[in-house]
Amino acid sequence: MKQFLLAPSILSADFARLGEDTAKALAAGGDVVHFDVMDNHYVPNLTMGPMVLKALRDYGITAPIDVHLMVKPVDALIPAFAKAGASYITFHPEASEHVDRTLQLIKEHGCKAGLVFNPATPLSYLDYVMDKLDIILLMSVNPGFGGQSFIPGTLDKLRQARRLIDQSGYNIRLEVDGGVKIDNIGQIAAAGADMFVAGSAIFGHPDYKKVIDEMRSELEK
Ligand code: DX5
Ligand code: ZN
Repeated sequence: MKQFLLAPSILSADFARLGEDTAKALAAGGDVVHFDVMDNHYVPNLTMGPMVLKALRDYGITAPIDVHLMVKPVDALIPAFAKAGASYITFHPEASEHVDRTLQLIKEHGCKAGLVFNPATPLSYLDYVMDKLDIILLMSVNPGFGGQSFIPGTLDKLRQARRLIDQSGYNIRLEVDGGVKIDNIGQIAAAGADMFVAGSAIFGHPDYKKVIDEMRSELEK
């Protein structure tokens, strides 16, 4: 298993050329496509659904696709995203009536499952479901928009989540999402993250490979 995964967030890609821009970020060294789903209800913004994900698969994107559901309710969309080609599906526990059931539903549809924690959401949601998780995603901004600044308190929360994962003995990725840049990714990794979402840092730069290479060299330090 690769030690660190970089997940370009296509929320900041060129939506008019989404297939091409996604392929470009992968060719530049991205490992996983981060796919942000917003419903203008759970978060104040509106993005993409399963049809767009399927279009990326049809275009020829074969890399894992990490679907970050910022929707409420959650369950009704899971079969459609799994069918469209999602690899991972993560959701916010406070947006689901039955967290355990939603996790099971994701697994039953053949995808890896994860919980997402907003900056003010307590990690206690993990208490009884560690055995069902493939990913824990800590938001380092409030969800809804790309291009926001990393909230420094996330570092402590990452250290706590890392401890919980290590104590559990399960093989769970610790993902971080929001404001990840070349100049803070080293610190974020040192706090325990091993999967990094980056939207504006990659797509907002003319040379995706340069950004990804520099992020990797920070991770190797
Ligand atoms: C925000 C999304 C993020 C977003 C991150 O709600 O979940 O995935 O694309 O964007 P940056 O990397 O620009 O903070
Ligand atoms: Zn996201």
